[in-house]
Amino acid sequence: MQADCVVKSAQRRSAEVIVIPVWEGKKRGEIATDETEYRALLNLPLDSGDFHGKQGETQLLYVAKGKEKRALLLGLGKQSECTSESLRCAYASAVKMMHGKKLASANILLPSLSSDVHCKAIFEGVLLADYSFDQLKGESLKENAGGLNKICFCGVPLKEKEVLKRTEIVISSVNFVRDLVNRNADDKHVGTLAKIAKDFEKQSDKIKTTILEKKQLEQLEMGLLLAVGRGAMRDPALVIIEYRGNPHSKDTTAIIGKGITFDTGGLNLKPTGGIETMKCDMAGAAATLGVMQAAINLGLKINLLGVLSIAENAIGPGSYKPGDVFRSYSGKTVEISNTDAEGRLVLADALSYIQEKYKPSRLIDMATLTGGIVIALGELATGLFSNDNDLAHALEKSAGRTDERLWRMPLYPEYKMLLKSSIADLKNSGGRAASSCSAAVFLQQFIKDTPWAHLDIAGTAYLSDLKPYPYHQTPATGVGVRLLIDFLTHCAEK
Ligand code: BES
Ligand code: MN
Ligand code: ZN
Repeated sequence: MQADCVVKSAQRRSAEVIVIPVWEGKKRGEIATDETEYRALLNLPLDSGDFHGKQGETQLLYVAKGKEKRALLLGLGKQSECTSESLRCAYASAVKMMHGKKLASANILLPSLSSDVHCKAIFEGVLLADYSFDQLKGESLKENAGGLNKICFCGVPLKEKEVLKRTEIVISSVNFVRDLVNRNADDKHVGTLAKIAKDFEKQSDKIKTTILEKKQLEQLEMGLLLAVGRGAMRDPALVIIEYRGNPHSKDTTAIIGKGITFDTGGLNLKPTGGIETMKCDMAGAAATLGVMQAAINLGLKINLLGVLSIAENAIGPGSYKPGDVFRSYSGKTVEISNTDAEGRLVLADALSYIQEKYKPSRLIDMATLTGGIVIALGELATGLFSNDNDLAHALEKSAGRTDERLWRMPLYPEYKMLLKSSIADLKNSGGRAASSCSAAVFLQQFIKDTPWAHLDIAGTAYLSDLKPYPYHQTPATGVGVRLLIDFLTHCAEK
Protein backbone atom coordinates (compact mmCIF):
# COMPACT_ATOMS: atom_id res chain seq x y z
CA MET A 1 0.00 0.00 0.00
CA GLN A 2 1.17 3.43 -0.90
CA ALA A 3 0.42 6.18 1.61
CA ASP A 4 1.05 9.83 0.96
CA CYS A 5 -0.04 13.15 2.39
CA VAL A 6 -0.67 16.70 1.24
CA VAL A 7 -1.07 19.95 3.15
CA LYS A 8 -3.97 21.34 1.12
CA SER A 9 -6.66 19.08 -0.24
CA ALA A 10 -6.47 20.96 -3.56
CA GLN A 11 -3.14 19.19 -4.10
CA ARG A 12 -4.69 15.74 -4.06
CA ARG A 13 -4.96 13.46 -7.09
CA SER A 14 -8.12 11.67 -8.10
CA ALA A 15 -9.25 8.58 -6.21
CA GLU A 16 -12.28 6.33 -5.91
CA VAL A 17 -13.51 7.98 -2.74
CA ILE A 18 -12.95 10.99 -0.51
CA VAL A 19 -13.41 10.58 3.22
CA ILE A 20 -14.99 13.64 4.86
CA PRO A 21 -14.95 13.82 8.65
CA VAL A 22 -17.97 15.20 10.50
CA TRP A 23 -18.25 16.20 14.17
CA GLU A 24 -21.38 15.22 16.00
CA GLY A 25 -23.21 18.48 16.78
CA LYS A 26 -25.93 19.41 19.27
CA LYS A 27 -28.55 19.69 16.56
CA ARG A 28 -26.70 18.98 13.36
CA GLY A 29 -23.43 17.35 12.36
CA GLU A 30 -20.67 19.76 11.41
CA ILE A 31 -18.06 19.23 8.74
CA ALA A 32 -14.75 18.84 10.57
CA THR A 33 -12.53 20.33 7.88
CA ASP A 34 -12.17 23.77 6.31
CA GLU A 35 -12.74 22.13 2.96
CA THR A 36 -15.46 24.09 1.18
CA GLU A 37 -15.75 22.00 -1.97
CA TYR A 38 -18.20 19.53 -0.44
CA ARG A 39 -20.25 21.77 1.82
CA ALA A 40 -23.25 21.92 -0.52
CA LEU A 41 -23.21 18.17 -1.00
CA LEU A 42 -23.33 17.59 2.74
CA ASN A 43 -26.20 19.95 3.51
CA LEU A 44 -28.87 17.42 2.70
CA PRO A 45 -27.69 14.49 4.81
CA LEU A 46 -26.75 16.81 7.70
CA ASP A 47 -29.87 19.03 7.61
CA SER A 48 -32.21 16.08 7.27
CA GLY A 49 -30.67 14.57 10.40
CA ASP A 50 -29.96 11.34 8.52
CA PHE A 51 -26.29 11.61 9.39
CA HIS A 52 -25.38 12.68 12.92
CA GLY A 53 -21.62 12.35 12.96
CA LYS A 54 -21.61 9.78 15.76
CA GLN A 55 -18.22 8.18 16.20
CA GLY A 56 -17.62 5.60 13.51
CA GLU A 57 -20.88 6.37 11.66
CA THR A 58 -20.38 6.16 7.89
CA GLN A 59 -22.47 7.12 4.88
CA LEU A 60 -21.52 6.80 1.25
CA LEU A 61 -22.69 9.50 -1.18
CA TYR A 62 -22.26 9.74 -4.93
CA VAL A 63 -20.81 12.87 -6.46
CA ALA A 64 -21.49 14.01 -10.00
CA LYS A 65 -18.13 15.63 -10.66
CA GLY A 66 -14.75 16.21 -9.04
CA LYS A 67 -11.69 14.17 -8.25
CA GLU A 68 -13.72 11.38 -6.63
CA LYS A 69 -16.98 9.73 -7.60
CA ARG A 70 -17.84 8.97 -4.01
CA ALA A 71 -17.78 10.84 -0.74
CA LEU A 72 -17.68 8.86 2.46
CA LEU A 73 -19.03 10.79 5.43
CA LEU A 74 -17.26 9.74 8.58
CA GLY A 75 -18.59 10.55 12.04
CA LEU A 76 -15.92 11.52 14.59
CA GLY A 77 -18.26 11.90 17.56
CA LYS A 78 -18.41 15.07 19.67
CA GLN A 79 -15.42 17.34 19.23
CA SER A 80 -15.29 17.92 23.00
CA GLU A 81 -14.90 14.18 23.56
CA CYS A 82 -12.33 13.63 20.82
CA THR A 83 -9.29 11.56 21.81
CA SER A 84 -6.53 9.92 19.84
CA GLU A 85 -8.26 6.56 20.37
CA SER A 86 -11.63 7.90 19.17
CA LEU A 87 -9.95 9.16 15.99
CA ARG A 88 -8.05 5.89 15.51
CA CYS A 89 -11.33 3.98 15.81
CA ALA A 90 -13.36 6.34 13.61
CA TYR A 91 -10.89 6.29 10.71
CA ALA A 92 -10.64 2.51 11.06
CA SER A 93 -14.42 2.33 10.57
CA ALA A 94 -14.02 4.26 7.32
CA VAL A 95 -11.48 1.70 6.13
CA LYS A 96 -13.84 -1.15 7.05
CA MET A 97 -16.56 0.51 4.97
CA MET A 98 -14.16 0.94 2.02
CA HIS A 99 -13.17 -2.73 2.24
CA GLY A 100 -16.85 -3.67 2.13
CA LYS A 101 -17.28 -1.70 -1.09
CA LYS A 102 -13.94 -2.94 -2.47
CA LEU A 103 -12.61 0.57 -2.85
CA ALA A 104 -8.85 0.58 -3.25
CA SER A 105 -7.88 4.23 -3.51
CA ALA A 106 -8.93 7.02 -1.19
CA ASN A 107 -8.31 10.62 -0.32
CA ILE A 108 -8.72 10.99 3.40
CA LEU A 109 -9.40 14.41 4.90
CA LEU A 110 -8.15 15.12 8.41
CA PRO A 111 -10.11 17.31 10.80
CA SER A 112 -8.69 20.84 10.80
CA LEU A 113 -6.30 21.79 13.58
CA SER A 114 -5.18 18.21 14.08
CA SER A 115 -2.31 18.07 16.55
CA ASP A 116 0.59 15.73 15.88
CA VAL A 117 -0.82 13.08 18.25
CA HIS A 118 -4.11 13.27 16.38
CA CYS A 119 -2.43 12.98 12.98
CA LYS A 120 -0.51 9.95 14.17
CA ALA A 121 -3.63 8.30 15.59
CA ILE A 122 -5.47 8.81 12.29
CA PHE A 123 -2.57 7.35 10.28
CA GLU A 124 -2.50 4.39 12.65
CA GLY A 125 -6.26 3.85 12.49
CA VAL A 126 -6.15 3.64 8.68
CA LEU A 127 -2.98 1.54 8.41
CA LEU A 128 -3.95 -0.85 11.21
CA ALA A 129 -7.47 -1.35 9.84
CA ASP A 130 -6.18 -2.08 6.35
CA TYR A 131 -4.48 -5.25 7.61
CA SER A 132 -5.96 -8.54 6.56
CA PHE A 133 -4.77 -12.10 6.99
CA ASP A 134 -5.53 -14.01 3.82
CA GLN A 135 -2.89 -16.71 3.63
CA LEU A 136 -5.15 -19.37 5.15
CA LYS A 137 -8.20 -18.49 3.08
CA GLY A 138 -9.30 -20.49 0.07
CA GLU A 139 -9.07 -18.97 -3.39
CA SER A 140 -12.72 -17.90 -3.53
CA LEU A 141 -12.43 -15.88 -0.33
CA LYS A 142 -9.05 -14.53 -1.32
CA GLU A 143 -10.57 -12.97 -4.41
CA ASN A 144 -12.80 -10.94 -2.16
CA ALA A 145 -9.88 -9.78 -0.07
CA GLY A 146 -7.98 -6.78 -1.22
CA GLY A 147 -7.55 -3.75 0.89
CA LEU A 148 -6.44 -0.28 -0.03
CA ASN A 149 -3.59 0.19 -2.44
CA LYS A 150 -3.35 3.96 -2.57
CA ILE A 151 -4.27 6.56 -0.01
CA CYS A 152 -3.58 10.23 0.44
CA PHE A 153 -4.13 12.03 3.73
CA CYS A 154 -5.21 15.62 3.08
CA GLY A 155 -4.81 18.54 5.44
CA VAL A 156 -1.62 17.25 7.00
CA PRO A 157 0.83 19.92 8.26
CA LEU A 158 4.17 19.66 6.46
CA LYS A 159 6.09 18.52 9.53
CA GLU A 160 3.77 15.53 9.90
CA LYS A 161 5.03 13.96 6.68
CA GLU A 162 7.88 12.47 8.67
CA VAL A 163 5.38 11.19 11.25
CA LEU A 164 3.53 9.37 8.46
CA LYS A 165 6.74 7.71 7.30
CA ARG A 166 7.63 6.59 10.81
CA THR A 167 4.08 5.40 11.45
CA GLU A 168 4.22 3.30 8.29
CA ILE A 169 7.40 1.64 9.56
CA VAL A 170 5.92 0.90 12.97
CA ILE A 171 2.60 -0.40 11.63
CA SER A 172 4.31 -2.64 9.13
CA SER A 173 6.10 -4.23 12.11
CA VAL A 174 2.78 -4.52 13.96
CA ASN A 175 1.41 -6.31 10.89
CA PHE A 176 4.45 -8.55 10.75
CA VAL A 177 3.72 -9.57 14.37
CA ARG A 178 0.03 -10.07 13.60
CA ASP A 179 0.94 -12.38 10.68
CA LEU A 180 3.23 -14.43 12.91
CA VAL A 181 0.68 -14.80 15.69
CA ASN A 182 -2.26 -15.50 13.36
CA ARG A 183 -0.50 -18.20 11.41
CA ASN A 184 -0.57 -21.92 12.25
CA ALA A 185 1.40 -23.10 15.25
CA ASP A 186 3.12 -25.74 13.11
CA ASP A 187 4.22 -22.98 10.82
CA LYS A 188 6.13 -20.89 13.36
CA HIS A 189 8.29 -23.40 15.13
CA VAL A 190 11.65 -22.75 16.72
CA GLY A 191 13.41 -22.81 13.34
CA THR A 192 11.06 -20.28 11.75
CA LEU A 193 11.47 -17.76 14.55
CA ALA A 194 15.23 -18.27 14.77
CA LYS A 195 15.60 -17.71 11.02
CA ILE A 196 13.69 -14.43 11.17
CA ALA A 197 16.03 -13.31 13.94
CA LYS A 198 19.11 -14.46 12.03
CA ASP A 199 17.98 -12.63 8.88
CA PHE A 200 18.06 -9.30 10.74
CA GLU A 201 21.84 -9.57 10.45
CA LYS A 202 21.55 -9.07 6.69
CA GLN A 203 19.87 -5.69 7.21
CA SER A 204 22.66 -3.95 9.04
CA ASP A 205 26.11 -4.52 10.50
CA LYS A 206 24.82 -3.13 13.81
CA ILE A 207 23.06 -6.46 14.38
CA LYS A 208 24.34 -9.74 15.71
CA THR A 209 22.11 -12.74 16.31
CA THR A 210 23.08 -15.67 18.52
CA ILE A 211 21.06 -18.86 18.53
CA LEU A 212 21.56 -21.15 21.51
CA GLU A 213 20.35 -24.59 20.54
CA LYS A 214 19.64 -27.61 22.73
CA LYS A 215 23.29 -28.62 23.03
CA GLN A 216 24.36 -25.18 24.21
CA LEU A 217 21.36 -24.92 26.53
CA GLU A 218 22.53 -28.20 28.07
CA GLN A 219 26.07 -26.93 28.46
CA LEU A 220 24.73 -23.77 30.08
CA GLU A 221 22.43 -25.88 32.29
CA MET A 222 19.23 -24.03 31.46
CA GLY A 223 17.20 -26.76 33.14
CA LEU A 224 13.84 -24.96 33.03
CA LEU A 225 13.78 -24.05 29.33
CA LEU A 226 15.00 -27.57 28.51
CA ALA A 227 12.32 -29.19 30.69
CA VAL A 228 9.47 -27.30 29.00
CA GLY A 229 10.73 -28.25 25.54
CA ARG A 230 11.15 -31.96 26.24
CA GLY A 231 7.81 -33.22 24.94
CA ALA A 232 7.98 -31.61 21.52
CA MET A 233 9.23 -32.75 18.14
CA ARG A 234 11.39 -29.60 17.92
CA ASP A 235 14.02 -28.65 20.46
CA PRO A 236 13.82 -25.41 22.41
CA ALA A 237 16.17 -22.50 21.74
CA LEU A 238 17.21 -19.18 23.16
CA VAL A 239 17.66 -16.50 20.50
CA ILE A 240 19.48 -13.26 21.24
CA ILE A 241 19.49 -10.33 18.83
CA GLU A 242 21.95 -7.55 19.67
CA TYR A 243 21.32 -4.17 18.06
CA ARG A 244 23.93 -1.51 18.66
CA GLY A 245 22.31 1.70 17.49
CA ASN A 246 24.40 3.79 19.89
CA PRO A 247 27.89 2.32 20.14
CA HIS A 248 29.07 5.24 22.31
CA SER A 249 26.71 4.35 25.11
CA LYS A 250 26.70 1.47 27.57
CA ASP A 251 22.95 1.87 28.14
CA THR A 252 21.11 -1.21 26.86
CA THR A 253 17.47 -2.25 27.07
CA ALA A 254 16.76 -5.98 26.98
CA ILE A 255 13.38 -7.07 25.66
CA ILE A 256 12.49 -10.67 26.36
CA GLY A 257 9.57 -12.50 24.80
CA LYS A 258 7.80 -15.70 25.77
CA GLY A 259 7.89 -17.90 22.69
CA ILE A 260 5.75 -20.95 23.38
CA THR A 261 4.90 -21.95 19.82
CA PHE A 262 1.95 -23.96 21.11
CA ASP A 263 0.80 -24.44 24.68
CA THR A 264 -1.10 -27.70 25.15
CA GLY A 265 -0.65 -27.27 28.89
CA GLY A 266 1.67 -30.29 28.86
CA LEU A 267 0.63 -33.32 30.93
CA ASN A 268 -1.65 -30.93 32.86
CA LEU A 269 -3.49 -30.76 29.55
CA LYS A 270 -5.63 -27.73 28.85
CA PRO A 271 -9.35 -28.44 28.46
CA THR A 272 -11.51 -27.71 25.44
CA GLY A 273 -12.31 -24.04 25.65
CA GLY A 274 -8.81 -23.22 26.85
CA ILE A 275 -6.56 -24.83 24.26
CA GLU A 276 -7.98 -23.47 20.99
CA THR A 277 -6.21 -20.12 21.04
CA MET A 278 -2.84 -21.39 22.23
CA LYS A 279 -1.00 -20.75 18.99
CA CYS A 280 -0.93 -17.21 20.37
CA ASP A 281 1.44 -18.21 23.16
CA MET A 282 4.47 -16.93 21.25
CA ALA A 283 3.00 -13.42 20.98
CA GLY A 284 5.62 -12.04 23.39
CA ALA A 285 8.43 -13.38 21.23
CA ALA A 286 6.68 -12.16 18.07
CA ALA A 287 6.29 -8.68 19.56
CA THR A 288 9.96 -8.73 20.52
CA LEU A 289 10.83 -9.45 16.88
CA GLY A 290 8.47 -6.65 15.81
CA VAL A 291 10.06 -4.14 18.18
CA MET A 292 13.53 -5.09 16.94
CA GLN A 293 12.47 -4.80 13.31
CA ALA A 294 10.85 -1.40 13.82
CA ALA A 295 13.80 -0.09 15.90
CA ILE A 296 16.19 -1.15 13.15
CA ASN A 297 14.08 0.36 10.36
CA LEU A 298 13.61 3.59 12.29
CA GLY A 299 17.34 3.68 12.98
CA LEU A 300 16.80 4.34 16.69
CA LYS A 301 20.02 5.47 18.31
CA ILE A 302 19.87 3.09 21.25
CA ASN A 303 21.25 -0.29 22.18
CA LEU A 304 18.83 -3.16 22.34
CA LEU A 305 18.82 -6.83 23.11
CA GLY A 306 15.89 -8.79 21.72
CA VAL A 307 15.59 -12.18 23.37
CA LEU A 308 13.25 -15.00 22.39
CA SER A 309 12.82 -17.93 24.74
CA ILE A 310 11.31 -20.54 22.46
CA ALA A 311 9.81 -23.97 23.13
CA GLU A 312 6.67 -25.93 22.42
CA ASN A 313 4.80 -27.11 25.50
CA ALA A 314 3.75 -30.45 24.05
CA ILE A 315 2.63 -33.86 25.22
CA GLY A 316 4.85 -36.79 24.37
CA PRO A 317 6.80 -39.59 25.97
CA GLY A 318 9.51 -37.08 26.86
CA SER A 319 7.24 -34.48 28.45
CA TYR A 320 8.31 -33.04 31.78
CA LYS A 321 6.19 -34.25 34.63
CA PRO A 322 4.25 -32.68 37.48
CA GLY A 323 6.00 -33.27 40.79
CA ASP A 324 9.49 -33.42 39.32
CA VAL A 325 12.11 -30.85 40.24
CA PHE A 326 14.41 -29.06 37.80
CA ARG A 327 17.43 -26.89 38.34
CA SER A 328 17.30 -23.47 36.71
CA TYR A 329 20.22 -21.65 35.11
CA SER A 330 20.37 -19.46 38.23
CA GLY A 331 20.85 -22.53 40.42
CA LYS A 332 17.44 -22.26 42.08
CA THR A 333 15.47 -25.50 41.92
CA VAL A 334 11.82 -25.54 40.88
CA GLU A 335 9.16 -28.14 41.62
CA ILE A 336 6.72 -28.46 38.75
CA SER A 337 3.33 -28.20 40.40
CA ASN A 338 1.67 -27.60 37.04
CA THR A 339 3.15 -28.18 33.57
CA ASP A 340 0.79 -25.53 32.24
CA ALA A 341 2.70 -22.83 34.12
CA GLU A 342 5.49 -23.15 31.55
CA GLY A 343 5.91 -19.54 30.44
CA ARG A 344 7.52 -18.43 33.70
CA LEU A 345 9.96 -21.34 33.39
CA VAL A 346 11.27 -20.44 29.95
CA LEU A 347 11.41 -16.76 30.96
CA ALA A 348 13.23 -17.44 34.23
CA ASP A 349 16.23 -19.02 32.51
CA ALA A 350 16.28 -16.30 29.86
CA LEU A 351 16.11 -13.51 32.45
CA SER A 352 18.94 -14.96 34.56
CA TYR A 353 21.18 -15.62 31.60
CA ILE A 354 20.69 -12.21 30.02
CA GLN A 355 21.39 -10.37 33.27
CA GLU A 356 24.54 -12.37 33.91
CA LYS A 357 25.98 -12.33 30.42
CA TYR A 358 24.95 -8.90 29.09
CA LYS A 359 24.27 -6.79 32.21
CA PRO A 360 21.56 -4.68 30.53
CA SER A 361 20.41 -1.39 32.08
CA ARG A 362 16.80 -2.56 32.19
CA LEU A 363 14.72 -5.63 31.36
CA ILE A 364 11.26 -5.66 29.85
CA ASP A 365 9.56 -8.98 29.27
CA MET A 366 6.40 -9.56 27.27
CA ALA A 367 4.46 -12.75 27.80
CA THR A 368 1.03 -14.28 27.32
CA LEU A 369 1.63 -15.49 30.84
CA THR A 370 -1.65 -16.03 32.67
CA GLY A 371 -5.35 -16.58 32.14
CA GLY A 372 -5.71 -14.67 35.41
CA ILE A 373 -4.83 -11.37 33.75
CA VAL A 374 -7.76 -11.90 31.35
CA ILE A 375 -10.04 -12.41 34.34
CA ALA A 376 -8.68 -9.24 35.97
CA LEU A 377 -8.48 -6.83 33.04
CA GLY A 378 -10.24 -8.49 30.13
CA GLU A 379 -8.85 -7.70 26.71
CA LEU A 380 -8.60 -3.97 27.31
CA ALA A 381 -5.31 -3.64 29.17
CA THR A 382 -1.97 -5.35 29.57
CA GLY A 383 -0.91 -6.12 33.14
CA LEU A 384 2.21 -4.23 34.19
CA PHE A 385 4.40 -5.50 37.01
CA SER A 386 7.61 -3.74 37.91
CA ASN A 387 10.23 -3.51 40.63
CA ASP A 388 11.11 0.04 39.53
CA ASN A 389 8.75 3.01 39.69
CA ASP A 390 10.68 5.14 37.18
CA LEU A 391 10.55 2.39 34.58
CA ALA A 392 6.88 1.68 35.33
CA HIS A 393 5.96 5.36 35.03
CA ALA A 394 7.83 5.75 31.75
CA LEU A 395 5.96 2.74 30.37
CA GLU A 396 2.66 4.13 31.63
CA LYS A 397 3.37 7.37 29.79
CA SER A 398 3.98 5.44 26.59
CA ALA A 399 0.72 3.59 27.21
CA GLY A 400 -1.04 6.95 27.45
CA ARG A 401 0.50 8.18 24.21
CA THR A 402 -0.18 5.00 22.20
CA ASP A 403 -3.45 3.83 23.77
CA GLU A 404 -1.89 0.42 24.30
CA ARG A 405 -3.22 0.45 27.82
CA LEU A 406 -1.24 -0.76 30.81
CA TRP A 407 -2.60 -1.36 34.28
CA ARG A 408 -0.12 -1.62 37.13
CA MET A 409 -0.45 -4.74 39.25
CA PRO A 410 1.17 -5.47 42.61
CA LEU A 411 4.29 -7.48 43.41
CA TYR A 412 3.55 -7.91 47.12
CA PRO A 413 6.30 -10.00 48.72
CA GLU A 414 3.65 -12.11 50.47
CA TYR A 415 2.68 -13.66 47.12
CA LYS A 416 5.91 -15.59 47.39
CA MET A 417 4.26 -17.78 50.02
CA LEU A 418 2.03 -19.18 47.29
CA LEU A 419 5.14 -20.58 45.62
CA LYS A 420 6.53 -22.45 48.61
CA SER A 421 7.66 -26.00 47.93
CA SER A 422 8.61 -28.63 50.49
CA ILE A 423 11.22 -30.26 48.28
CA ALA A 424 12.60 -27.44 46.10
CA ASP A 425 13.44 -23.74 46.35
CA LEU A 426 10.05 -22.89 44.88
CA LYS A 427 7.22 -24.37 42.86
CA ASN A 428 6.10 -23.02 39.52
CA SER A 429 2.38 -22.58 40.11
CA GLY A 430 0.71 -20.76 42.96
CA GLY A 431 -2.85 -21.82 42.25
CA ARG A 432 -5.85 -19.80 41.09
CA ALA A 433 -5.94 -16.90 43.54
CA ALA A 434 -3.94 -13.90 42.25
CA SER A 435 -2.41 -16.18 39.63
CA SER A 436 -1.05 -13.29 37.53
CA CYS A 437 0.62 -11.81 40.60
CA SER A 438 2.16 -15.06 41.79
CA ALA A 439 3.42 -15.68 38.25
CA ALA A 440 5.07 -12.24 38.23
CA VAL A 441 6.56 -12.83 41.67
CA PHE A 442 7.92 -16.15 40.38
CA LEU A 443 9.73 -14.21 37.63
CA GLN A 444 10.95 -11.69 40.20
CA GLN A 445 12.86 -14.48 41.98
CA PHE A 446 15.16 -14.49 38.97
CA ILE A 447 15.76 -10.72 38.86
CA LYS A 448 18.82 -9.40 40.66
CA ASP A 449 18.83 -5.62 41.02
CA THR A 450 18.14 -4.59 37.43
CA PRO A 451 15.09 -2.40 36.82
CA TRP A 452 12.55 -4.81 35.35
CA ALA A 453 9.05 -4.65 33.96
CA HIS A 454 6.87 -7.62 33.11
CA LEU A 455 4.01 -7.12 30.65
CA ASP A 456 1.35 -9.84 30.84
CA ILE A 457 -0.25 -9.61 27.39
CA ALA A 458 -2.44 -12.75 27.66
CA GLY A 459 -5.59 -10.63 27.29
CA THR A 460 -4.38 -8.09 24.74
CA ALA A 461 -2.31 -10.10 22.25
CA TYR A 462 -5.05 -12.25 20.74
CA LEU A 463 -8.63 -11.03 20.87
CA SER A 464 -11.73 -13.16 21.18
CA ASP A 465 -13.88 -10.04 20.85
CA LEU A 466 -13.02 -7.54 18.11
CA LYS A 467 -15.92 -5.17 18.88
CA PRO A 468 -14.07 -2.59 21.00
CA TYR A 469 -11.39 -2.26 18.31
CA PRO A 470 -12.45 -1.29 14.77
CA TYR A 471 -8.75 -1.26 13.84
CA HIS A 472 -8.29 -4.94 14.72
CA GLN A 473 -9.98 -7.20 12.17
CA THR A 474 -8.24 -10.46 13.10
CA PRO A 475 -7.44 -11.90 16.55
CA ALA A 476 -3.73 -11.05 16.65
CA THR A 477 -3.14 -7.43 17.67
CA GLY A 478 0.64 -7.04 17.60
CA VAL A 479 0.35 -5.43 21.03
CA GLY A 480 3.63 -4.22 22.51
CA VAL A 481 5.19 -2.90 19.33
CA ARG A 482 3.64 0.58 19.34
CA LEU A 483 4.04 0.77 23.12
CA LEU A 484 7.71 -0.17 23.28
CA ILE A 485 8.72 1.79 20.20
CA ASP A 486 7.25 4.87 21.87
CA PHE A 487 9.12 4.02 25.07
CA LEU A 488 12.42 3.42 23.24
CA THR A 489 12.03 6.56 21.13
CA HIS A 490 11.74 8.57 24.34
CA CYS A 491 14.77 6.71 25.76
CA ALA A 492 16.70 7.72 22.65
CA GLU A 493 15.68 11.36 23.00
CA LYS A 494 16.95 11.54 26.59
N1 BES B 1 -0.36 -19.50 27.97
C1 BES B 1 -1.09 -19.60 29.16
C2 BES B 1 -1.80 -18.29 29.54
C3 BES B 1 -2.85 -17.76 28.61
C4 BES B 1 -4.20 -17.93 28.91
C5 BES B 1 -2.52 -17.05 27.49
C6 BES B 1 -5.16 -17.43 28.08
C7 BES B 1 -3.48 -16.53 26.64
C8 BES B 1 -4.82 -16.70 26.95
C9 BES B 1 -0.17 -19.97 30.32
O1 BES B 1 0.91 -20.76 29.97
C10 BES B 1 -0.97 -20.75 31.30
O2 BES B 1 -1.40 -21.79 30.95
N2 BES B 1 -1.15 -20.21 32.50
C11 BES B 1 -1.89 -20.88 33.50
C12 BES B 1 -1.08 -20.87 34.77
C13 BES B 1 -1.64 -21.75 35.84
C14 BES B 1 -1.46 -23.20 35.50
C15 BES B 1 -0.92 -21.45 37.14
C16 BES B 1 -3.19 -20.11 33.71
O3 BES B 1 -3.15 -18.89 33.71
O4 BES B 1 -4.22 -20.74 33.81
MN1 MN C 1 0.48 -22.81 29.93
ZN1 ZN D 1 1.56 -20.58 28.04
